[in-house]
Formats: sequence, C-alpha cells, structure tokens
Amino acid sequence: MRRGVDEPGAQQFVPADRRLSSLKRAASDCRGCALYEDATQTVFGQGKPQAPLMLVGEQPGDYEDQEGVPFVGPAGRLLNRALDDAGIDPALTYQTNAVKHFKFKRVGKRRIHEKPGRIEVVACQPWLIAEIESVQPQVVLCLGATAAQSLLGSAFRVTAHRGERLRLPAPLQVEPEPVLMATIHPSALLRDRSERREENYASFVDDLRGASTGLAAMFRENQPG
Ligand code: URA
Ligand code: SF4
Repeated sequence: MRRGVDEPGAQQFVPADRRLSSLKRAASDCRGCALYEDATQTVFGQGKPQAPLMLVGEQPGDYEDQEGVPFVGPAGRLLNRALDDAGIDPALTYQTNAVKHFKFKRVGKRRIHEKPGRIEVVACQPWLIAEIESVQPQVVLCLGATAAQSLLGSAFRVTAHRGERLRLPAPLQVEPEPVLMATIHPSALLRDRSERREENYASFVDDLRGASTGLAAMFRENQPG
C-alpha cells in the first residue's frame, strides 16, 4: 500500500488537547492510513491518566475490533493473567496498541490477523505519542516487535534488548520522560507449543514484574484522597 492523499498519517487528526477523552474522540474519526476502511472501529487505549505502566501491543484483534476495547480477546486474557501472576493491579496499567485499527484478510467468513506494515505503524505513531504525553506513564512496556519498532525504529530487535531500560529516541522525547522497555507479545505465548512454554510464560511474567517494580506504591501515593 502506498501512502496517498487519503492516507496522510494520523498527525493531522490529533488534537492539541491532550485529555484522553479528547484524543479518543478524535481518533474515532482518524483516516491516517487505509486501515480505517475495513475495520469496525478505532480501538483506542484504555486506562487512567497517570497510570504508571503503559502496555503497548501490536493492533486490535477480531474481538477488540468488535468491542472497541484493547486486549479483550485470547491474547488479552493471557496478558491479564500474567499481570495477575506478576502481582500487578490492572488498574495501574494503561493498555493500548501501536496501530489502532484491526488489519485482517478475509478467508471465507473468518477474518485472519495480518501484521501491520511499516507504513501503518508510522502512520499511527502520533496517537501513541499523544497517549504517552497524556497518560504520563513512568514506564512504557512494548509487547512485541511492532510496538517496540514504532517507538525505537525498524532495526530494533526485542530479543537483543528484552528487559533493558531504554529511552525514547530524541525526536520522540516527551516530558516527563518514561522508561521504555520491551518484551515479547502475549500472542507468541499463545502460539507457543514448545516444551519451554511454561518457562517462556514465566519469563514474560518476570518482564512484567521488572517493568513494574516500585510503580504501584508511587501511584497510590500520588492519588488524591
Ligand atoms: N493483541 C494486541 O496486540 N492488542 C490487542 O489489543 C489484542 C491483541
Ligand atoms: Fe488512523 Fe491508526 Fe487507524 Fe490508520 S490505523 S486510520 S493511522 S487510527
């Protein structure tokens, strides 16, 4: 797909107002790439402003596309079980995706997930940056290569930098600056039929725990009341 006049990227749809409600409303009308045409709706992030831990997935799946909420399908259930096993209250997380419309191909009646391309990831990045500016998380944890490469460039390899404390590259810097981290996508664990499946799940839980160390206490201290 080539980027044409009708698919200029999300930037021109992003309002100056950084309230999450304003961003979400504006994103529902985004035509920054061609994905809005076939998907049911924009699936914007979900969670509270100031949530200390932002989790960034790839794109909504079939369930998310229909419900309009991220991480409500099988990958989301696995993610939320892993958060529970890591001792992280989901209320401390803001959950979103690098790309906000579902990309799929139809095979009979089924809609099969298609990985978003670089053009779509780049087109949708302004929403993700706006969410980071709005929520002001302390840590942004990228789940999988698509999310990590949205923020860190297409040469970034999760396997080489998993669990490291990273920084947003200079052109994307936001105030206050969050710590950036990357791990695998929960879908990789759903597909994992290897004998290391349990171990791989445990490493994912460890990454969630590592990303959240110290955050919950800070968040509670900063809540009014
Ligand atoms: N996979 C994702 O990356 N995001 C979702 O919201 C659901 C599944
Ligand atoms: Fe806009 Fe992102 Fe949807 Fe493309 S995927 S139309 S950039 S919200």
